Amino acid sequence: MALSIGSKKIKTAVFISGRGSNLKSLIKFSKQKKSPIVIELILSNNVKSRGLKFSKLFNIKKKIFNFKNKKIAEKKILNELEKRNIKLICLAGFMKILSKSFIKKFNGKILNIHPSLLPKYRGLNTHKRAILNKDRYSGCTVHYVNHKLDSGKIVIQKKVKILKKDTPKSLANRILIQEHKLYPKAISKVFNP
Ligand code: GRF
Repeated sequence: MALSIGSKKIKTAVFISGRGSNLKSLIKFSKQKKSPIVIELILSNNVKSRGLKFSKLFNIKKKIFNFKNKKIAEKKILNELEKRNIKLICLAGFMKILSKSFIKKFNGKILNIHPSLLPKYRGLNTHKRAILNKDRYSGCTVHYVNHKLDSGKIVIQKKVKILKKDTPKSLANRILIQEHKLYPKAISKVFNP
């Protein structure tokens, strides 16, 4: 008898805080035959995240956790992930920093996408900082998550040229187009090296 689609795929949770455009690109990727992952859960710290709409659109379970008490939130999240046998977390615009103990306890891989060529410009306002520094290139990076902000081992990067007329917004838009391609590529690289 044929196995149900996705039965052997890596169960993945995507963590978001806002718009969710990377989430959307990951969902689309996960539906391709060649994708090593299946997205089982969308998780957010923010009930107002626009990206939560993709839960209904694509029929994926969503969960919202209040991070006012981070310890409690992380404990509940770990339970949820364990219950669903989640083996990959993709952070996609998730604005909370996961604790060292959460990262240690999670029985799987955690990836993040960041809009700069790490190790340059960890943290926020990456595009503005790259333009102010008169860099010729910026880009995006997918990396493993460790306990230091935007500092884990790099999986893959994509360079994007900074144009003279660029504003942080125009640069962000061009980089975002690349992010949507890079995250799926990184996942393929991690699971089918
Ligand atoms: C992206 O630029 C991502 O690199 C950064 O936050 C933004 C999230 O955008 N970490 P979206 O919510 O995926 O549209």
